[in-house]
Amino acid sequence: MSTPHIKADKNQIAKTVLMPGDPLRAQYIAETFLENVEKFNDVRNMYGFTGYYNGKRISVMGSGMGQPSIGIYSYELFKFFDVENIIRIGSCGAYTKDLNLYDTILAKDAYSESSYAFVQGGEKRDTLEASKVLNEKLSKIAEKLSIPLHVGTIHSSDVFYRENGEVALELAQKRNLLGVEMESFALFHNANVTGKNAACLLTVSDSLVTHEATTPEERQSAFTNMMKIALEMAE
Ligand code: ADE
Repeated sequence: MSTPHIKADKNQIAKTVLMPGDPLRAQYIAETFLENVEKFNDVRNMYGFTGYYNGKRISVMGSGMGQPSIGIYSYELFKFFDVENIIRIGSCGAYTKDLNLYDTILAKDAYSESSYAFVQGGEKRDTLEASKVLNEKLSKIAEKLSIPLHVGTIHSSDVFYRENGEVALELAQKRNLLGVEMESFALFHNANVTGKNAACLLTVSDSLVTHEATTPEERQSAFTNMMKIALEMAE
């Protein structure tokens, strides 16, 4: 089975796929945490790997940045490769001073101004929920690993560089948004239209309130709490 963006056989991809934005982070996770790793995709360098975590099978693949990119990859995985669960593992900017760098967020749902869901499938809602089943599992794992989670609504923005940053902070206050990323709304929509499951764990990489930030090098490897929680979803 090949699609325009993924060249792999169905049986090379596990039922659960972890999706960081950066394909090099996917490679880092596979090389650091998985055994018996096989690379299943390298089209456009959007690497995907399948391996074993504590003897259980799981895949990890980059999504790229933004809703159009994760929209393509997650749709193909759900629709054409029989993937059941996609868990985004990404970074986000904090909208509140209650969040520190490296804190972990579990998205209850994602708010967006994006037209992705409406154009793709006529979806009129601006806030889409993550899978309750996946979120319950992820919460239990986090508790067992003693990793605190901030659970709430996140903002899936189409814009990283805003001319007027205050508008985003006002929106965050009005809608009680924890932080901003750029992918989950499209991912949750694709799960809805294909009858599959999606969730999103985020690590705070920067703050729109305090203007602290992590470096790209730290981003690639230092988000281990989030990765440890997500890897326990291997089946
Ligand atoms: N991902 C990480 N930090 C972000 C930010 N400040 N805005 C959008 N996406 C992000």
